[in-house]
Amino acid sequence: MKPFHFQSGLGIPALQFLASIHFDRRLYQEDIEGSIAHAKMLARQGIISQNEAELIIGGLKAIGEEIERGEFLFKTELEDIHINIESRLWEKIGEIAGKLHTARSRNDQIALDLRLFTRKAIQESIAKVKELQLALVEKAEAYQTAIIPGYTHLQPAQPILLAHHLLAYFEMLQRDIERFKDCLKRTEVMPLGSGALAGVPYPVDRCFLAQELGFPQISQNSLDAVSDRDFIIEYQLAASLTIMHLSRLAEELVIWSSAEFGFITIDEAYSSGSSIMPQKRNPDIAELVRGKTGRVYGHLLALLTTMKSLPLAYNRDMQEDKEGFFDTVDTLLSCLGIFVGMIRTIRINVERLRQSAEQSYLMATDVADYLVHKGMPFRQAHNLVSELVEYAQTQGKRLEQLGLDEYWHFSPLFSEDIAEITLESSIAARDIVGGTAPEEVKKQIERAKRIIKDSS
Ligand code: ARG
Repeated sequence: MKPFHFQSGLGIPALQFLASIHFDRRLYQEDIEGSIAHAKMLARQGIISQNEAELIIGGLKAIGEEIERGEFLFKTELEDIHINIESRLWEKIGEIAGKLHTARSRNDQIALDLRLFTRKAIQESIAKVKELQLALVEKAEAYQTAIIPGYTHLQPAQPILLAHHLLAYFEMLQRDIERFKDCLKRTEVMPLGSGALAGVPYPVDRCFLAQELGFPQISQNSLDAVSDRDFIIEYQLAASLTIMHLSRLAEELVIWSSAEFGFITIDEAYSSGSSIMPQKRNPDIAELVRGKTGRVYGHLLALLTTMKSLPLAYNRDMQEDKEGFFDTVDTLLSCLGIFVGMIRTIRINVERLRQSAEQSYLMATDVADYLVHKGMPFRQAHNLVSELVEYAQTQGKRLEQLGLDEYWHFSPLFSEDIAEITLESSIAARDIVGGTAPEEVKKQIERAKRIIKDSS
């Protein structure tokens, strides 16, 4: 039996430089799955015999098992996952192995492997985002009546329900899921048959391949099919937006768990002690998720830059697509996973929330609206209430602790019913769709639960 022959003239330094096996070995399952479908198709079309296909498929399956058992010897001189597997197939079944690469090129092979991998990455990402949505909705439901200050510019603005705040993240994550799903449509396109770039001169059945691999579509231009990586870029963009959302939530957890805020306590299982300051518990996990956002954005920009200005069709530059992509998938999945546990175990310090809401002059807008209802133009009401708040602050009083005589000092429009303005009345008044009124938030919780349930 002749030995497997690949790449002759390259020197060792060049071989090492070009090799991608240390990272593309991760595609072994996809590579084998694609090759099995290809061999089946070749036999079906009479391009190779049924016997040959069976031999090849048996060999490929055995190789997959060797890799799973950690017994496979990956060789740098064989460059990438495709050649490593083909060479091993040669060792196992002899020259027939050489027939597998009929009507195929590594260019359409890698395009397929990456599409199969991306599909899996998308499915796993969606599943994890859903878990996080569920954790948030469960928290919202458990604390349905808790009121917190709502902020703009990180200044206390108006009272809102904590549940309303948490559900804002449900919405963000729902859009993230939709983006991943959208990206899936363009990922599930079967590229085999494109060959190196021009298509193959064999009667291949591309639709059969698509069916075998569970892809609803086949690519329509061979040059495009072997040379674009936009589906990976789309995944990375969707991942960047998801981790941006996570990072915002992470930042809130950092702020909320600080001694100054004290709104939440992050469970000991998810916050670390300081090595020298015994009183501290650090929200390290939230911080690290916030920190990891940078590398995910970085990988997105790196691949966009790698792809820019590449002439058609395949160029070796594109081998650079993988490491950043794999790291993006790993980073996103691990951040989502750890967040689910952290959110589930967070304790809400309801008393502290209430105190903070009461002390923050959150009803100032409601008092202005009160004056508007009594006939004062809004602008004047706004100015008047800002003076009123300033006065209350100097007295060290909350608005509801001011006497009617003090209110009258600012306007005769005030009467007894000013006492009806409370945190609860402020919240209840905002009963438009998407507002913070308890009835509305309750509906939103039900809606969120339905969305999670319907899609699982
Ligand atoms: N390792 C290569 C990559 O990831 C596979 C395709 C190689 N094709 C080639 N013509 N050298 O891009």
